[in-house]
Amino acid sequence: MHHLKDRGFLHPVPSEITPKHVFEARRRLLQGAAAGAAFTALPALSQGSAPRPNKLAALPGGKSAVAGAVVMDKLTPYADAASYNNFYEFGTDKSDPARYAGTLKPRPWTVAVEGEVKKPGSFDLDALLKLAPMEERIYRLRCVEGWSMVVPWVGWSLAELIKRVEPTGNAKFVQFVTLADKAQMPGLRSSVLDWPYVEGLRMDEAMHPLTLLAFGMYGEVLPNQNGAPVRLVVPWKYGFKSAKSIVKIRFVDKQPKTSWEEAASSEYGFYSNVNPKVDHPRWSQASERRIGEDGLFAKKRPTLMFNGYEPQVGQLYAGMDLKKFY
Ligand code: MTE
Repeated sequence: MHHLKDRGFLHPVPSEITPKHVFEARRRLLQGAAAGAAFTALPALSQGSAPRPNKLAALPGGKSAVAGAVVMDKLTPYADAASYNNFYEFGTDKSDPARYAGTLKPRPWTVAVEGEVKKPGSFDLDALLKLAPMEERIYRLRCVEGWSMVVPWVGWSLAELIKRVEPTGNAKFVQFVTLADKAQMPGLRSSVLDWPYVEGLRMDEAMHPLTLLAFGMYGEVLPNQNGAPVRLVVPWKYGFKSAKSIVKIRFVDKQPKTSWEEAASSEYGFYSNVNPKVDHPRWSQASERRIGEDGLFAKKRPTLMFNGYEPQVGQLYAGMDLKKFY
């Protein structure tokens, strides 16, 4: 995403619009749910677009009580969310992950939790799937390249796992490590990034209820190209903070290294909060294009502070100079 000649977001995208009646039915249901209806399973309404031939295993999520968990924006069609991806372990073109991620084996899978915790350990995927009730979260995801999507993720707050492993007083940051297996990931042959892909959050960011450990999207398990079997989704930060296919979560006392900071620290900072007023050195971040919705020549939509999650997360950064801590 850092190539001058190929800024990614200039690629044309397939334009697929959710049929109006589907969208309106979903909106009615969400409004009903918001109005206080009891537990409502949403997956049937999350399909976004026409029925697909190759459906993955169902992974329904219940209604979330977390503030900001469900935005009312129109959902990005599944076909777009699953074909326009950044997952450099499978190549740097937007179409590479969907084309090549078939070699990723999302089962069996374990996530190691280590570092500054009283209960380190290795969590099997099946144990993680049962660790907390699955919730559906409809989040905006804003990529640093200038495009955004609206995806119904299925998962639970990362805080659920953090509480169970009991961080010590020295745990100030959390580092996330993606799988790096040459046999499964052809993109590792390229030195575009230092592998494995690593990302990090400050402890309070990791504990925020909006920070999601996601196992599914659109009511199904994650497709490989979107980070199967388990990924992070941090909706108020640029998309690259949302590490895919996680194999290790490490609690540390110092701000950990991240892949994009190592690659170009003047362009990608540790915090990387979505901020329309802090431009990338090579392009403006003031506006964005919604994938599958805004055509290449449509007027761009304004980018929102903290991607629209300012009421929920603004307090985490009170008193911080967000130009300095970009
Ligand atoms: N995680 C890994 N392991 N490798 C990557 O290249 N790309 C990031 C992030 N997570 C990436 C990653 C970027 S730049 C974005 S915008 C999001 O994944 C895209 O997620 P999506 O393909 O599900 O939309």
